Amino acid sequence: MDKSYEQIFENNKKWVENKLNEDQDFFKKLASGQSPEYLYIGCSDSRVTSEELMGLKPGEVFVHRNIANIVNTLDMNSTAVIQYAVEHLKVKHIIVCGHYGCGGVKAAMTPEDFGLMNPWLRTIRDVYRLHQEELNQITDEHKKYDRLVELNVQEQCINIIKMACVQERYLLDHYPIVHGWVFDMKSGKLIDLNIDFEKILSNIQNIYDLTNSNWMKNIKKI
Ligand code: CO
Repeated sequence: MDKSYEQIFENNKKWVENKLNEDQDFFKKLASGQSPEYLYIGCSDSRVTSEELMGLKPGEVFVHRNIANIVNTLDMNSTAVIQYAVEHLKVKHIIVCGHYGCGGVKAAMTPEDFGLMNPWLRTIRDVYRLHQEELNQITDEHKKYDRLVELNVQEQCINIIKMACVQERYLLDHYPIVHGWVFDMKSGKLIDLNIDFEKILSNIQNIYDLTNSNWMKNIKKI
């Protein structure tokens, strides 16, 4: 058997020992349930860990990862994760974390047929089209690439804010707040893009207001 594969079980044994040394009840507590405050949506890239780079422990963050941290309304996986996190776990913060050097974003900037990946990358190409005026003005290819990474995070945040479950819960208890971050692996630092949740919500509400209150108003009109 592959040595590095077997090493994982050795690592796990040590991890269990360490956790029990720190706290004899660690696994008893872990098994008793979860109530994380954060939902983290990030890239599948092996270099961009979620818990580790945020310094969070097991049980503290609900995680969803896919290529280029995309939230697409037709993707049952990410939308189910968000719905569950918002309605059942009642997370207070939803974080979309992109990263510079993202292969998915790079592929979307490359004029090539990527087969099955095409519809996935289309979402990022759509972000490019939405912001082409700004992006086309950037002559440095690296800077353009970095900016598309940031804009992709911003647009995925907007996709989350468009969701009915997010709007409904926000009206009820002012949570969850959606945040956009970029991980810079050259420095290891997280950069907060300071997404203005309230402003985005009020800007998109004319079109994407899916809250029951509005639905009720429409019913009354009929
Ligand atoms: Co990536």
